[in-house]
Amino acid sequence: MAARTPAEPARIPVRVQDVTAYRGDALVVNLFEGVTEPGGATGAVDKALGGAIGALIRRKEMTGKVGEATPLHTFGRLPASRVLVVGLGKKEQFDLEGVRAVMGEALRFLRRTGASSAGTILHGAGAGGLDPAAVAQAVTEGAILGCYRFDRYKKPEKDRKVLEELSILTREAAGRRALEDAVGRARVVAEAVTLARDLVNTPPNDLTPAALAAAAAAAAKASGFSCRILAREQMRRLGMGALLGVAQGSANPPRLIVLRHRGGRQGKPVVAFVGKGVTFDTGGISLKPAENMESMKGDMSGGAAVIGAVSALARLKAKVHVLGVIPAVENMPSGTASRPGDILRTMSGKTIEVINTDAEGRLILADALTYARQQGAPRLVDVATLTGACVVALGTIRSGAFANDEGWMAAVREASEAAGEKVWQLPMDEEYGELIKSDVAEIKNTGGRKGGAITAAKFLAHFVEKTPWVHLDIAGTFESDKEKGYRVKGGTGVAVRTLVEIGLRLAR
Ligand code: BES
Ligand code: MN
Ligand code: ZN
Repeated sequence: MAARTPAEPARIPVRVQDVTAYRGDALVVNLFEGVTEPGGATGAVDKALGGAIGALIRRKEMTGKVGEATPLHTFGRLPASRVLVVGLGKKEQFDLEGVRAVMGEALRFLRRTGASSAGTILHGAGAGGLDPAAVAQAVTEGAILGCYRFDRYKKPEKDRKVLEELSILTREAAGRRALEDAVGRARVVAEAVTLARDLVNTPPNDLTPAALAAAAAAAAKASGFSCRILAREQMRRLGMGALLGVAQGSANPPRLIVLRHRGGRQGKPVVAFVGKGVTFDTGGISLKPAENMESMKGDMSGGAAVIGAVSALARLKAKVHVLGVIPAVENMPSGTASRPGDILRTMSGKTIEVINTDAEGRLILADALTYARQQGAPRLVDVATLTGACVVALGTIRSGAFANDEGWMAAVREASEAAGEKVWQLPMDEEYGELIKSDVAEIKNTGGRKGGAITAAKFLAHFVEKTPWVHLDIAGTFESDKEKGYRVKGGTGVAVRTLVEIGLRLAR
């Protein structure tokens, strides 16, 4: 793996300073929908600009709607060269996710127009009623994630513009330290998301299972956690017949990546994160159609999220013992590939009839989940780009969630909401399990088209047994086909923030 994408903006200082004193290329203030007399920081800027903002509101050229961004030149009336007034929408609907989105949009706009420094207020912390430290965190995440670019494979642009510095402006000197801490934590999280995005975006000729393992080892070294990598022979000794069955079609050998952040804790891990790491999914002998197959380079997004999350928890020195397990394989058709009809023997001892070699994610996760349980993990979360059916059900907004334990589901849901990554729980009734019964083995790896996301989860449930477990299907959320808010085209790094939040909550 080549160099990592550096976080941009590189510097995010907190300054105790009035907005009207900020000196830089641009100043970001805001407007809620329906406000006719701008107050607070926006009011102060309006005054300095001779009432320009108020005038534009009266002329309906500025409404405060979400997505609206109005640049104004200050022509020396403020030390900042320009002001950008961003719409926040309705006050009652504005939340931290809105903060992230507005910062992403605003900073990309300013960077495009040549700004290298910007100052911002804490959107929603005043009249919006949001907690200032939480807003500082969201500002930082939105800024770094919104400025993300994956251009490592392009020749350098002649005038590549970079937003170097974002100043967070506050008037309360007393709260400065708390804001700085929040910015620092948010940077660690955003950089973990950046790492996950880089891994997802790296082409599959460069990101083989061995390369994914090398990237995990590099992250472990940089962030201070342990990384053990198992090769084919070790997996054979452990009896991982399902994982090896998927791997056998590829010339690129598999790896089992085992991460551990001990967080100063002895004994067993308190949670295991298991991430699907298919570095490319052709479907195998049950070959996928050519259209959009290139997007299957992102079929290791679950694994990338686990690597990112463990890195962040290690850098944050979270007092929690976390295990990360990533089965990394390439799903290829070849003379050595497994076939529909093959029966694979898993590490758990259960046998699986392969009906469709394109349902490979559940096969490798079966052995990875068994491994995580054998390491003593008392609760599990797996993250996987598992089914097209989940994309049909939930689209690109929410990831699918499935659980065998409602208490653990509630904890994961709350963490995901706090992190700003939406999930939606789908059912797990007994009856769905009947669809994956096999005549010749304990279970088969597909249950037909109907309820495909659910039967996939029911399949995984066989391998977690009684251990509290949540499965997150990120097939609809792992990539974005457009630039919007703090997301840009390509890998989203989804689930990193949720897993970090889960780890931080378990540390409390
Ligand atoms: N990696 C795919 C699922 C996927 C599809 C992820 C679209 C992201 C976007 C998975 O391995 C797969 O191929 N699943 C099959 C299962 C089927 C054969 C039962 C699917 O969903 O079609
Ligand atoms: Mn597949
Ligand atoms: Zn897949």
